[in-house]
Order: sequence, then structure tokens, then C-alpha cells
Amino acid sequence: MAIRLPLGGTMTEEIARVLVSKEEIDSICTRIAAQINKDYADSDKRLVIVCVLKGSMIFTSDLMRRITVPMELECMKVASYFSSTKSSGEVKLQLDMARSDLTDCDLLIVEDIIDSGRTLYSLINQLRERGARSVRCCTLLDKPSRRVVDLTPDYIGREIPDEFVVGYGLDYDEKYRELPYVGILSPWVYEK
Ligand code: IMP
Ligand code: MG
Repeated sequence: MAIRLPLGGTMTEEIARVLVSKEEIDSICTRIAAQINKDYADSDKRLVIVCVLKGSMIFTSDLMRRITVPMELECMKVASYFSSTKSSGEVKLQLDMARSDLTDCDLLIVEDIIDSGRTLYSLINQLRERGARSVRCCTLLDKPSRRVVDLTPDYIGREIPDEFVVGYGLDYDEKYRELPYVGILSPWVYEK
């Protein structure tokens, strides 16, 4: 199936290089889900997956379908403000989850990518303050070289270099989310 890219260019023009193929993403989801199934096997509490919209919706749905322990799903939306392709550090809650009592919940936040770490750091703290029994986090991609806060995810799909990537839920200007792989966006797309 040929996917039409947003600017009408070819794959090699808009996407400089495929960084994480569909096959690798599949095996990452399988590996992380197996670890989650093991880690939460004996829990008598409620495992609540927190999907961070919109970027992690595809990763969350692939991961969820490999989870075999009882689980529930919530969604939240946080805006981290960007100037072109770098986050500014400001984090704002745009959409909250639909439950208020978190005392018997083991929350597992699912993120698409961790860059500076500010978004996730702020979200984890907010959810802990609300009394969640535990808060862990899982990310498909991690750019450890960009970190400005002390944060180590509990589950990591893959570390990547400091490149701006799109696809598999990740966007640039709301585009490219539908690509089945994660690719490095050609700099001319955002430098023009
Ligand atoms: P952080 O707060 O700096 O860790 O930024 C995290 C958020 O910025 C992610 O959830 C993404 O929405 C976005 N982001 C960071 N790096 C990239 C990227 O390379 N491509 C697309 N979005 C990104
Ligand atoms: Mg995100």
C-alpha cells in the first residue's frame, strides 16, 4: 500500500531514513508486553494504562492487545509547547482522565517518545500527588542525550539519537502520524 506523504514528496525526500521498521516495532511491543505481563501478574490492584494523546495512541493500542493481565484504559492529553522541533519546557494538562479516585490504581503511563523528559516528569508528579498506588512509565522511544530532568522510564522500546522523528503516531505539525514505521524527518521539511 502506497502512502501519500503530506508534502506530496516521495519517501526518500520527506523521510530521510527509516529508523525503526514496522517489524522492529512489532518485536518491541511483544517484548515490553511480556515484561508488563510478568511484572503485574500478581497484582491485586487495578492496572490502568494511561495513553498520552495523541502521539502514543498507536503504540498504546498495539501494546494493549498483547497485555494478558486484567487492565483498564484512560487517556490524557498534555501539551508541551514546541518551537519548530524543540520543546520549550512548558507543560499544560489539556485533557484529564475520567476517574478521580486513584488510590487502588497501578498506573502505567504510555508515551511515544521522551525528549527533555519534562512532559512525563510533570505528569508522573501530578498523578502521584493525586494518590495513585504506583506510577510507572513506558516509552516507545527515548532520546537520553536530550534529558534535562532526572527521569528513567521503566520500560523503553528503543533509545534513539537526537533526531526529529515522525510516524507510528508521532507527528510534525500534525502530519505523518499514519506512517507504519518511525522515520527521521528530512530537515528541509521544518527548516523551510
Ligand atoms: P519532552 O517533554 O521534551 O520529553 O517532550 C515530549 C513530547 O515532545 C513527546 O511526547 C512528543 O509529543 C514530542 N516530541 C519530542 N521529540 C519528538 C520527535 O522527535 N518527534 C515528534 N515529537 C517529538
Ligand atoms: Mg507524546
